[in-house]
Amino acid sequence: MEGWYQSSVLSTIGWSLEKVNPLLDLAAEYKKCIEQKIDIGTKNRFSALTLFFEPSTRTRLSFESAAHHLGIKVMSVANAANDTSAKKGETLEDMGRMVSSYADVVIIRHPELGAARRLASSATVPVINAGDGAGEHPTQALLDLFTIREAFGTLKGLRVGLCGDLVNGRTIHSLLRLLVAFGCDIVAISPEELAIPKEVLQKIPRAADAVRVEPDLRKVLAQLDVLYMTRVQKERFHDIEVYEKVKNAYRLTREDLDHASDHLRILHPLPRVDEVAESVDGDPRARYFVQSANGVPTRMALLTAILDIPNRVHAGMSGPD
Ligand code: NCD
Repeated sequence: MEGWYQSSVLSTIGWSLEKVNPLLDLAAEYKKCIEQKIDIGTKNRFSALTLFFEPSTRTRLSFESAAHHLGIKVMSVANAANDTSAKKGETLEDMGRMVSSYADVVIIRHPELGAARRLASSATVPVINAGDGAGEHPTQALLDLFTIREAFGTLKGLRVGLCGDLVNGRTIHSLLRLLVAFGCDIVAISPEELAIPKEVLQKIPRAADAVRVEPDLRKVLAQLDVLYMTRVQKERFHDIEVYEKVKNAYRLTREDLDHASDHLRILHPLPRVDEVAESVDGDPRARYFVQSANGVPTRMALLTAILDIPNRVHAGMSGPD
């Protein structure tokens, strides 16, 4: 698979359909294997380290689940801020040098913008950014694309509403540029305080044509193919008064869906707080739990491509380990 082998995954800048589609194709194969309980574990000597300086349920566990499915050995530091020498003042650059001798790939989450890049600057193994502050979350973007492609077969021409905290939501920053690059029309739904940062928009070719702003979700709901809801990121606000002002900006309810199209797909990177009512969960258009489960096959495909792991899927399910 072109463009992934031994590469760090820090941002979605510059990703093309040619780079992403083969990975999503492999993820689809892996998803079938998981559903059918087919063992695709391979005899390999790879190891992965998850190094999480911020809370996580889905990202860390789905990476670790993905690694287990592939037969990769996992080392897990779930509370790295306290449980590593970062607590003693060790820099990310020094840590990058060290962890390279323990694992073949390092997956890091950190509250600081650019943290994964700093670790990667001294690491000699690939580093995967599992979220750096309000920066990026590229592997979430991959599983988001997988989920949209699974529903519609294509991305081109879809109208996607991105709703909620578009200023701090790192999943938004990684996903937006891919949606625009792959031919979607975007409606950015947020109050002014939570608008997509200008610096993010400026770096996206065609953004001026492809992204329209509409703070009122109800006005646009009927026109959307995909509605991507996000949590207001309380932990990123310097001014708690601003957070209090915007925290309840949106709440999608079952009743709202009476005005949405039948083919709408509702996504959310999760965790949710109040922005999607639980009454929405039972609607067939709610896809966020499927989306989060898609993290496992998608991350399996990514680890396969980065480490070039031999696997039975590639060998038509019949090859040797
Ligand atoms: C997101 C994150 O950590 O950026 N969660 C996730 O990885 N699925 C979204 C969030 O925390 O709101």
